[in-house]
Amino acid sequence: MAWKIIFTVLGLLVTGAAARCSPGSSQKITAPTLNLTPCNVTDPTCDWHGYLNGPDTVILDVNVGPGRGLDPSWVDLIKQIRDQKKAGSSTITTILGGVGIGWALQGLGRAFFEVDVPHAKADIDKWNSWYKVDGIYFEQVWPFNCSTASDMATLVKYVRDHSKSPTGQRVTIFELGQNGPECYLKTTPSADAFVTFQGEYSDYQSYVPASYMKKYSAARWYHQIGEVDPSKLTSVVRKSKANRAGQVFVTDLHFTYPHDAFGPLPGGNTTYWQNEVKQVASSCMY
Ligand SMILES: *[C@@H]1O[C@H](CO)[C@@H](O)[C@H](O)[C@H]1NC(C)=O
Ligand SMILES: *[C@@H]1O[C@H](CO)[C@@H](O)[C@H](O)[C@H]1NC(C)=O
Ligand SMILES: *[C@@H]1O[C@H](CO)[C@@H](O)[C@H](O)[C@H]1NC(C)=O
Repeated sequence: MAWKIIFTVLGLLVTGAAARCSPGSSQKITAPTLNLTPCNVTDPTCDWHGYLNGPDTVILDVNVGPGRGLDPSWVDLIKQIRDQKKAGSSTITTILGGVGIGWALQGLGRAFFEVDVPHAKADIDKWNSWYKVDGIYFEQVWPFNCSTASDMATLVKYVRDHSKSPTGQRVTIFELGQNGPECYLKTTPSADAFVTFQGEYSDYQSYVPASYMKKYSAARWYHQIGEVDPSKLTSVVRKSKANRAGQVFVTDLHFTYPHDAFGPLPGGNTTYWQNEVKQVASSCMY
């Protein structure tokens, strides 16, 4: 009898817990939160409530970046997220602020492949002084050649030197949106991770990582996959693991502009999100 109970408990532990992976081979969720507004995270009707359980990292976007002035409701949201983590009620260890490099939106007096370094630094300063974020997610980093690599290295260094994260983090992610050139990995300093796929389910079917990517830790590759029907969720997560995406985000909404809100509860569907969290945790990448 006692053994039966022990075996049952062990069985539950094995099936209920995340797969035990060798270091660097477990996949994590990094969640964009575009268009989500602050609310009371312990209230089940708050979009952030669902996000408390699942992501390792969340990316904030107050208003296409840090916004125009300190917003107390965002300060409060960040405090709530950190308090929930301290209380053991959340998986979120890292909160990033979004900074638009915006090659696709520029062109006014500036070439698409140039970076407005002073403007980006000013946005980083705002995220740090107003919200004390754990790092920066650079949106729309030029993926076609190496012409912005040295400016982007300057910005990575700036984030590292000026972080006010209470846990001492200074994370940087570059949103390339597709496989970029290897030079971004070779600059000093280099970003921690790169969005090397951002698009819809149909495009992901033909996605192949660049061959140089094998040389680097899977933790550096992050795939964002949209328009994933609930019935395709399991196979997409499996494919992302086979592609060595150490960070992933899957949604049934679309990624092409204009974005939908990236809440975990589009239309209030927690089932989808919970299944995603489960699939990501259920097996190692290799
Ligand atoms: C947040 O929501 C919870 C659960 O609905 C509620 O108990 C709590 O009072 C709310 N807190 C605030 C500050 O509104
Ligand atoms: C990068 O591409 C742009 C636009 O095509 C081009 O003008 C620039 O010279 C290229 N830079 C390098 C370093 O190849
Ligand atoms: C929610 O998602 C589940 C599976 O992830 C799906 O079966 C269900 O139909 C969805 N419900 C709604 C209302 O979209």
